[in-house]
Order: sequence, then structure tokens, then C-alpha cells
Amino acid sequence: MEPEQGRCRGGLRAVAGARTRRQGRGRASARTLSTLLLLLLACCVRCAGGAQPSNVVLILADDQDVHLGGMTPMKKTKTLIGDAGATFVNAYTVTPLCCPSRSSILTGLYPHNHEVRNNSLSGNCSSPLWQKGPESEALPVYLSKQKYQTFFAGKYLNQYGKKDAGDVSHIPPGWDQWHALVGNSQYYNYTLSVNGKEEKHTDSYEKDYLTDLIANRSLKFLDDRSPQHPFFLMLSPPAPHSPWTAAPQYQNDFGDVKAPRDGSFDKPGKDKHWLLRQPINPMPNSSLTFLDNAYRKRWQTLLSVDDMVEMLVKKLESIKELDNTYIFYTSDNGYHTGQFSLPIDKRQLYEFDIRIPLLVRGPGIKPNQTLQAPVLNIDLTPTILDISGVNLSSVNVDGQSFLGQMAPSLRNGSARPFFLVEYTGEGHPTTDPACPKLGPGLSQCFPDCVCEDAYNNTYACVRTLDSENNLQYCEFADSESFVEVYNLSSDPHQLENIVKKVDPALLQAMNQRLIKLQSCVGDSCRDIK
Ligand SMILES: *[C@@H]1O[C@H](CO)[C@@H](O)[C@H](O)[C@H]1NC(C)=O
Ligand SMILES: *[C@@H]1O[C@H](CO)[C@@H](O)[C@H](O)[C@H]1NC(C)=O
Ligand SMILES: *[C@@H]1O[C@H](CO)[C@@H](O)[C@H](O)[C@H]1NC(C)=O
Ligand SMILES: *[C@@H]1O[C@H](CO)[C@@H](O)[C@H](O)[C@H]1NC(C)=O
Ligand SMILES: *[C@@H]1O[C@H](CO)[C@@H](O)[C@H](O)[C@H]1NC(C)=O
Ligand SMILES: *[C@@H]1O[C@H](CO)[C@@H](O)[C@H](O)[C@H]1NC(C)=O
Repeated sequence: MEPEQGRCRGGLRAVAGARTRRQGRGRASARTLSTLLLLLLACCVRCAGGAQPSNVVLILADDQDVHLGGMTPMKKTKTLIGDAGATFVNAYTVTPLCCPSRSSILTGLYPHNHEVRNNSLSGNCSSPLWQKGPESEALPVYLSKQKYQTFFAGKYLNQYGKKDAGDVSHIPPGWDQWHALVGNSQYYNYTLSVNGKEEKHTDSYEKDYLTDLIANRSLKFLDDRSPQHPFFLMLSPPAPHSPWTAAPQYQNDFGDVKAPRDGSFDKPGKDKHWLLRQPINPMPNSSLTFLDNAYRKRWQTLLSVDDMVEMLVKKLESIKELDNTYIFYTSDNGYHTGQFSLPIDKRQLYEFDIRIPLLVRGPGIKPNQTLQAPVLNIDLTPTILDISGVNLSSVNVDGQSFLGQMAPSLRNGSARPFFLVEYTGEGHPTTDPACPKLGPGLSQCFPDCVCEDAYNNTYACVRTLDSENNLQYCEFADSESFVEVYNLSSDPHQLENIVKKVDPALLQAMNQRLIKLQSCVGDSCRDIK
């Protein structure tokens, strides 16, 4: 009943009011009062899942890892969301690349069901087919049917707003207020679609710094909202994505910070699939300088996101909505800086790229909880819809609500013991002119011509994680049908591929499970044995 708390509290306030008025007139019989009370309580129970549920705010960072200390600079966020609620230490994206991951967040679907394969229009990123299909029944559409007022600001999907993706006039259904970035993350010199109209920005910090603009517009939305409706805000800052442009006041922070040198940092990927056997090992100094600089600047850009979270929490407090609002903080994918000698990027199957931060506060969530159960980015939509009172059996999602994990007083919920991670590699049909020694088919070859992706960096994994097992089994769609297997209990940094050591019966069982997961839809994604 907690998510409808606002309503129930209103009901009880009405009871108290009725009592005062009745007593004012005298002769109020205790019996009438208790009947009234019972009726109102019954209504509270009956209407659970009905009107006036809690508000929801979803903050989605771009490329923020959790594995390499990505949350360390965000002290206020950790206090205001994590300490005030739940921190999920095993949160994962089902695909470690922006556009497919964001499409999963918005729909609750695995990539094989929303069919957004990469960051290009031809791979369905914000494509006309995505708009006609998955986007037309995404999260905000349901929330708007639940009478939520909805607000979006920031980066949406990498191809959003481009000519072939319907231009800035395309406003995805379900959004009442729309302030979306055209294209990929930028901090200055960008274009927004403001409710379907083009708005150009240059590079004045006071007027244009995108993270601050998102914060400011969300506060204004909260001031202007109509209090009869619950609200949903999705805030999607560019940080800590490249080009890592920090606000002027933060450009000198973390001067001594370097990328962490432990775990798989600069380790050779010797028994891994072919792409991981290419990096120069040990890394040249130029790569180290490049990645340390990226690491430091990423942290600097996050300080503005930390300020945004603080402003938002203060505003919710001042309008007296904080206690009736769920705030989710997460990222679309992880990131790496030097792991297995790969300079910088995401796109890999390893923990640093697939783990994401996830902090949630809100009604019914006890403070300071650290939760171990694995949860996925495809669970965000069902969880938010659960909070909003939507009957989940009527919704087409592959994920499941984790409201019960963080607020057991509100819902039952059991954790899933394993899940799918799937990725389609990006490549370039021609050789990169900056790296003439490399063949075609590769991409993201910088610095020092070390490539982070290729067409056949296409893989699917079963990640098993419960009290007994902590395993990863991955198959590549390359000419070797390469397999990687890790026991993360004994080898948390995935240094040793144990495919040749494990019982073939176990490999076969994992392969069977993977095949089922790769074609699962809805219930069958949650019920595989
Ligand atoms: C959470 O834990 C921290 C550190 O132990 C403590 O300072 C804080 O008061 C706790 N917060 C709540 C809301 O219980
Ligand atoms: C794009 O999505 C549509 C369905 O929305 C699907 O038919 C098509 O095959 C997808 N394209 C790719 C390249 O996966
Ligand atoms: C923004 O664009 C202007 C004009 O092209 C350019 O001079 C400036 O350096 C750019 N600023 C940033 C931060 O990229
Ligand atoms: C955001 O609002 C603050 C406070 O009003 C203002 O100082 C700042 O310039 C604004 N920034 C942007 C980018 O709108
Ligand atoms: C790389 O940097 C290290 C330490 O900063 C230095 O000792 C070494 O000589 C450098 N190597 C090259 C090839 O510049
Ligand atoms: C994205 O996916 C489409 C469809 O599979 C493919 O044609 C295109 O080459 C991919 N883009 C990149 C950069 O790999």
C-alpha cells in the first residue's frame, strides 16, 4: 500500500476532518465513525494500484561505471539517494552500449526484442521502425495513461532529432514536456528539441552548460506542475561521456587522480577472443596519459551531476513531495580505462562495462540498505510501472519489478539467479585512414590504433549470480565460435578464461540456457530453468 501512501494519508486526513466536523455538531456516534473509518481503509486497500500513486524521478548518467570508482566523486548523491535508500551492488545493463541500453531502459526489453542493435540509424537507433514499434509502447506511454505528468531533459537516443530520425519535431509519445538533445552527448554547442521546436545553444557557461540546463528546467517543471497529478521526470545528463567538458569551477578538481592500476589494468587478454589479443601490452605512455586524463575529466563532469541531484532533492523537499517520490540514479553502461590494455570505452562483456550504478530512495525503502540481488536495466520500466499502479501482467516487458527487493513491506519479490547480456559489435566497412595497418571491420581505434570494437565483437552471455554461483558464460559470433567462461568467485577480475577446464556437461548446460534466453520473450525471459 505504501506507493499509494499519498492517497491513503489523504483518506485518513479526511477521516480526521470528518470526526472534527461531526463532533462539532455533537451526537457523533462512535459506531458511525468506526464504520466510516473502515470504509475509508477498505477504499485504501481496494484502490491500491489505482489513483494518485508516488512520483518518480529517473536520473540516467551517460557511460558512468561503478566498477572503477565512478560513484566516488558523487558524495552528495550517495548521501541523498544511497544512504536514504537502497544501493544495488549487482546492477547490470543487458547490453553495454548507449543506444541499445537506453532502448532497453525505456521499454523493459532485451535487445533481441526491441531490435536496436547499435548507435546508428541503420541499427535502429531512434529509427522510424523503432518509433513505430517499441517507442510507441514505452514507459512514458503507460505513465501518461496513469495520469502522470511527464518531463524529459537531456540525451535521449544517439540519433534522436537527426533528419532521417524525424527531425526535432518528433516527440516520442507519452511526454508532456520534452527538452531532448539532438544526437550524442555534448556539454556546449548543441541543439535541443524543446517540445518539437529547435533551440540552439552555444558555449556560455551560464546559459548553455547542458547538465545545469537540465537541472534548471526540471526545477521549473516542478514549480509549474499541477499538484493533482503525480509526476515522472527523466533527467539524462551528458556526464561523464566524452568530450568530458567540466564546468569552469570544477576544471581543476582531482588534479592527482589517476585511473586505478589494480585488477585487470594493463593485463594481457591472452586467452580471450581475438579482439582482446590485439592491444599493445604493456600500454604505451601515450595511452596511459590519455586514459588518466579521461578518468580525471570524467570525475570533474560528474560534480555537476552531483549538484543537480542536490538541487532536485532540495526542491522536492521544499514542495513537500520528497517523501512521496522515488528517485532512481543509474547509468546506461559501465566503462573501462586500461583494463586488459584497452585504453577507454565500453562494449565489452566484462564486469567493468556491464555493471552500472543503481541507487534508489522512496516510500517503503529503508535507509542505508546494500542489496546483493542482481537487477537489470530492463527491470527499471516494470519497477516504475509497478510503483505507478499498472498491472504488470498487461505489459509487454522482459524485465521484472524489483520494488519487492528494496521495499519488502510493499511487495513480495524473488531475485533471478541468471540473466542474458547480448551485444552486436560495431565496425567500419573500410580501413581507418589513421591506422592503415589495420584491416576493415574494426572501430574505435584510438589512441595508438588500439581498437575497441569490431563487427564480430558480437556476443551473448549468461551471467549467473546467486548465493552459490558467480559465473559468466559467453559465446561469440565470430569465425572461431569463441567461448569465454569465468568463475567470478575465485577470479573477480576475469583474468583467466576457464573454458578448457570446466566440466563439458556444465558448458553444455550453459549453452542450452543461453540459446533459450536469446529467443525469450516476456514471461519466458523470467521463467527459464
Ligand atoms: C546511513 O549510514 C551513514 C553511515 O553509517 C550514517 O551517517 C547515516 O546517518 C545513515 N543514514 C540514515 C538515513 O540512516
Ligand atoms: C529494426 O527493427 C525492426 C522492428 O522494429 C526490425 O524489423 C528490423 O529487423 C530491425 N533492424 C535491424 C537491423 O535489426
Ligand atoms: C563552440 O563553437 C564555437 C564556434 O564554432 C567554438 O569557437 C567554440 O570553441 C566551441 N566551444 C566548445 C566548448 O566546443
Ligand atoms: C541555472 O540556474 C542558475 C540559478 O538560477 C543560473 O545561475 C545558471 O546560469 C543556470 N544555468 C543554465 C545553463 O541555465
Ligand atoms: C614512460 O613513463 C615512465 C614513467 O613515467 C618512464 O620511466 C618511461 O621512460 C616512459 N617511457 C617512454 C617510452 O617514454
Ligand atoms: C549497425 O547495424 C546495422 C544493421 O545491422 C549495420 O548495417 C551497421 O553496419 C551497423 N553499424 C555499425 C557502425 O556497425
